[in-house]
Amino acid sequence: MSENTFPDDFLWGGAIAANQAEGAYLSGGKGLTTVDLIPYGEKRLATKLGLFETVNLEPKEYYPSHQGIDFYNRYQDDIALLAEMGFKVFRTSISWSRIYPKGDELVANEAGIEFYRNLFLECKKYNIEPLVTLCHFDVPMHLVNEYGSWRSREMIAFFERYATTCFNEFDGLVKYWLTFNEINILLHSPFSGAGLLFKNGENKEQIKYQAAHYELVASASVTRIAHEINPDNQVGCMLAGGDFYPYSCKPEDVLTALQKDRENLFFIDVQSRGYYPSYAKKVFAEKQVVLDITEQDRQILTNTVDFISFSYYASRCASADMNSHNTSEANIVKSIKNPHLPSSDWGWVIDPVGLRITMNTLYDRYQKPLFLVENGLGAKDSLDENGEIQDDYRINYLKQHIKAMKDAISDGIPLMGYTPWGCIDLVAASTGEMSKRYGFIYVDRDDMGNGSLKRIRKKSFHWYKRVIATNGECL
Ligand code: BG6
Repeated sequence: MSENTFPDDFLWGGAIAANQAEGAYLSGGKGLTTVDLIPYGEKRLATKLGLFETVNLEPKEYYPSHQGIDFYNRYQDDIALLAEMGFKVFRTSISWSRIYPKGDELVANEAGIEFYRNLFLECKKYNIEPLVTLCHFDVPMHLVNEYGSWRSREMIAFFERYATTCFNEFDGLVKYWLTFNEINILLHSPFSGAGLLFKNGENKEQIKYQAAHYELVASASVTRIAHEINPDNQVGCMLAGGDFYPYSCKPEDVLTALQKDRENLFFIDVQSRGYYPSYAKKVFAEKQVVLDITEQDRQILTNTVDFISFSYYASRCASADMNSHNTSEANIVKSIKNPHLPSSDWGWVIDPVGLRITMNTLYDRYQKPLFLVENGLGAKDSLDENGEIQDDYRINYLKQHIKAMKDAISDGIPLMGYTPWGCIDLVAASTGEMSKRYGFIYVDRDDMGNGSLKRIRKKSFHWYKRVIATNGECL
């Protein structure tokens, strides 16, 4: 084997999340979850940021998650298509409110368990390994309304009960687990990230970092439980990745980039090392955060993750004077527009070298295997006169990023697998659009929910099938 090839057991596949694909938002006893109250259109951003003190379903609004791509009812056909591409791994999430509709019950909802058991069995039928996120941008709304979501320490016990149910019920079917999707997004999009709503005049930083602490304790605690239930279980953290570049070599810009990276890596520092980083004290003092942290919490935090999973769409760029540059909010994190890089139609820069850099940063820092669990190009697709989709732009993006992964492997980095995002088209988390597509499989549905939901294989479907069949040799 040459040095920059993928290992024989490399996990090729793709990723989706319950909240953006399943739909069937009240079927099988499911309770309402945060994403079910995030509308399409004008109010979307303010809702995601937690700027309303309460959120309710409003008849005049359109909520894309309610139908998603109807994966709940079509998963068998969809998994068959993924199997046809040769998937070895399939990342999805469990919707907490299907298992515990309110979140604080003592008894789990059998219909929810049955749905996921059938889904994982379906994967196993094709030798596809499920990679399962326990919390991907959906907290049961009852927990938001009654407890203020992750403002409350009680959430740790609710999450432990939920995770324990999943580890027991799906033991033998699932061995790769992620606790919180893009845990650092809590800082940037607190309602969609963690179910946080703010009142006027509150110190938001206090609430966000306290919520983050409870999530970190919950994550470490269920990591321990997962290992106890089955030592074969492997648990990962999940970072919204992408290194910050200094805008210039001015020392102040370099320092700002380092500090911006720390904002994101703060979470993974705790999850991977088992204790708060030394810089946390100063960050808390500057933000006037006083943390409720006990000795027992510190003890629990020592249960560190087995691997580091991350998403990578784009690199970021920072300067000491952020305000005098054009900025974008690619993947929710504010960044200066990098003049050296092209961007997608949504303004997300395209930077395959940045993936190699990010991988090197993560491995240098944590020395644990990496898993790239989201990556891809959100783009508009259109059907040609033969009803086909020639998505060469997507193939080109993925090809460059797979090459960058190869380069990182040749740098000596262990990479467990690759699950490009939205392997089947689904609802975009940022905008709620269907037209921002990532998939190898087209889904006939528009931004307002019209369409037959029919699935069509894109050109990239056939390309990715060959990539997998040749273990990344034929790009
Ligand atoms: C990540 C999320 O932030 O980026 C996904 O984990 C999300 O849920 C993905 O869909 C791509 O972002 P978007 O807004 O294009 O869907």
